[in-house]
Amino acid sequence: MKKRIGALMAAAAMSAAFAAHAQQPMKQPAAKAPAKATQKATDATTADFEKFRDVLEEDNPAELFEAKGEELWKAKRGPKNVSLAETCDLGLGVGKLKGAYVQLPRYFADVDAVMDAERRIAHCMVTHQGFKAEDLAKKPFSSGNYTPELVSLTTYVAGHSRKMKIAIPQKHPKEKETYQIGKEIFAYRAGPWDFSCSTCHGEDGKRIRTQNLPNLSTPEGAIRAFQGWPGYRMTGGVMHTLQWRMNDCFRQQRFPEPNYVSPSITALLSYMGVNANGQMYKGPGIKR
Ligand code: HEC
Repeated sequence: MKKRIGALMAAAAMSAAFAAHAQQPMKQPAAKAPAKATQKATDATTADFEKFRDVLEEDNPAELFEAKGEELWKAKRGPKNVSLAETCDLGLGVGKLKGAYVQLPRYFADVDAVMDAERRIAHCMVTHQGFKAEDLAKKPFSSGNYTPELVSLTTYVAGHSRKMKIAIPQKHPKEKETYQIGKEIFAYRAGPWDFSCSTCHGEDGKRIRTQNLPNLSTPEGAIRAFQGWPGYRMTGGVMHTLQWRMNDCFRQQRFPEPNYVSPSITALLSYMGVNANGQMYKGPGIKR
């Protein structure tokens, strides 16, 4: 535990340093090729960060959220006083967690729809435990000392797919359709800057300041939409899921924020996830 606290304190210190880069507001349209000197400096920053992450991931702060998620998953809760463990089917059978996360988003016959991990867990909380969807959507993202239950739950579920291959199914027609919708949303340009996801994530080698922008349309890039998420983000020192990441990118794109666990997010996660199929998921991780 001592080691872990040490790591967390190191994370907090680093987060301040990285925050300076990562949180600067974007003043200009993305990813113009920077001057050579800047490029060199940012490459060094990236390399340093990668080294630091390797060290920290050995004693990963995400585990604290997995432990909280486990309690929430197993406890009888909500107006109906049942546990998710005894009611929630994430695609492989009620209560079955091993490998579920790397096979989501997927089609669920009970709702005749494709759902991603967080959306499905939220659905279970509403349908089986009797929580209100509006309440879950009220404050869905972590900030300060506050971590939404769904963040811990999603982290716990994701932990059961550690070191497993991403295998998002594309058999059901709705799964194929969802992928196509995601592909379209990814390429859809609009807003005050006429940006799409593709503007920032559709080519290799783009960056904003110190941040490399993965090309999410290729398998090598798309894995970054999975790897390390849910992630303990050093900027701010909080745990975030992909729902937050998507929201924040909509904001960067100057689009209106999507609703919490909206089907558009499921579609984007299908698109990027299927592009990453076959690669290994290392489990909940660390992000800057
Ligand atoms: C204006 C540029 C911009 C646009 C447009 C944009 N993003 Fe991002 N995206 C970023 C930045 C900056 C990061 C953070 C990179 C980092 O922290 O290293 C990021 C990170 C991500 C990540 C996480 C990558 C990782 O390594 O963990 C995903 C996934 C992602 N974006 C998807 C999307 C999707 C989907 C859209 C369209 C809805 C989108 N982005 C639109 C700039 C953008």
